[in-house]
Amino acid sequence: MSPDSLTLPGTLGIDFGTSNSAVAFRPAVGPSRLLPLENGATGMPTALFFNAEEHRTHYGRDAMQQYLVGEPGRLMRSLKSLLGSALLQEKTAVEDKLVSYQDIIAMFLRQLAQHARQGLDGRLPERVVLGRPVHFVDDHPERDRDAQNALAAAAKDAGLGDVHFQLEPIAAALDYEQRLQCETIALVVDIGGGTSDFTVVRLGPAQAGREDRTGDILATGGVHIGGTDFDHRLNVDKVMPLLGYRHIGPQGREVPSSVFFDLSTWHLIQWLYAPKALAAARDLRTNYADLQLHQRLMRVLEEREGHRLADAVEQAKIGASASGASALVNLQWLEAGLSAQITPDDLQTSLGALLAQVVACAQSCVRNAGVPIPDVIYLTGGSSALTALRAALRGAFPDTEQVEGDLFGGVATGLAYA
Ligand SMILES: Nc1ncnc2c1ncn2[C@@H]1O[C@H](COP(=O)(O)OP(=O)(O)OP(=O)(O)O)[C@@H](O)[C@H]1O
Ligand SMILES: [Mg+2]
Repeated sequence: MSPDSLTLPGTLGIDFGTSNSAVAFRPAVGPSRLLPLENGATGMPTALFFNAEEHRTHYGRDAMQQYLVGEPGRLMRSLKSLLGSALLQEKTAVEDKLVSYQDIIAMFLRQLAQHARQGLDGRLPERVVLGRPVHFVDDHPERDRDAQNALAAAAKDAGLGDVHFQLEPIAAALDYEQRLQCETIALVVDIGGGTSDFTVVRLGPAQAGREDRTGDILATGGVHIGGTDFDHRLNVDKVMPLLGYRHIGPQGREVPSSVFFDLSTWHLIQWLYAPKALAAARDLRTNYADLQLHQRLMRVLEEREGHRLADAVEQAKIGASASGASALVNLQWLEAGLSAQITPDDLQTSLGALLAQVVACAQSCVRNAGVPIPDVIYLTGGSSALTALRAALRGAFPDTEQVEGDLFGGVATGLAYA
């Protein structure tokens, strides 16, 4: 059978996200729809777990589950954050082979393609559109190009062929457009795990059918700040002090802080488990006056619990934002009776500077578009649910209505329209 007979008329949209991924299919005629990926769910965490005993790789929720129940092995998260960095070509051992992180991205994309194929009777559409943030890397066009090329190469390795790219916020706008009855100037806000992306775009039923939409895109902008940065900040401020961050040692100096920053950064956690990094952390002991704090740090590192800690902080961030009340970071597994709190006030104070940068980027995008104020702010991406973010946007655009989209599926759906 020739490969062509295995393809399907239509477009596959793939949103390879920092935290979650989704895939949508649009047939030659008709609307775009999200495809079931893992156990029927239309989104899956961008996570892999290499089980060291079974020599098997697990993906998505299954990967998170394996890690959280304590199976021996390694978890990979936030792989997209490595695009555009030198770490992408670093090799690591997976199932007894040395592979690069780019190869690991290809493994994940292959898994997405396999799920998509299952949802489409064994065939893949002839056209594949992958999303990309406005900037993979801020203020560095060359590294940004490298990032896209690396993602394209990974997609090719994954059997997806020569993929097309579309900006994630433009894809989100194309999804929103399907429900509009009249012409609207929208500020599309996509706040995900790794980036905050903006587009000011002219949308409407008259525009929707047009082939070339370049003239309708009035401005785009983006900044490399997202939910994983919020997790990082909250982890550093609220949990790392329990492990010795800012702790004053017997020499009257603070414990060197880099280990706490890396341990709070999703895509850097796994490097701390290397023998050299573990030895360096052990050597920090002499910098502590209270050795119990050092014992906690070593326990997290030796038992490879960094992602579990980051996950607990992420859940408390979501909890405090959604409930408007204080949320507990349960650290009972680390030490009996140990916990931290994240309050709605912490979300304002710890995240204030990051949120201000995100909002400044939105304002600059609107200025560049040359419109006085947008008709509507369309919110997508998981982190756009953060109440502190919505309040900050309301402060900057007090007269503009905020409309909530499909936070986790909108980009993939729109990519299939692109
Ligand atoms: N209710 C919520 N309140 C605040 N943040 C949330 C909520 N739900 C999810 N998040 C955050 O949203 C982020 C994931 O969002 P999303 O799935 O849109 O990102 P992504 O597409 O993977 O990332 P990117 O687009 O930046 O590559 C995570 O950081 C998660 O903590
Ligand atoms: Mg996204």
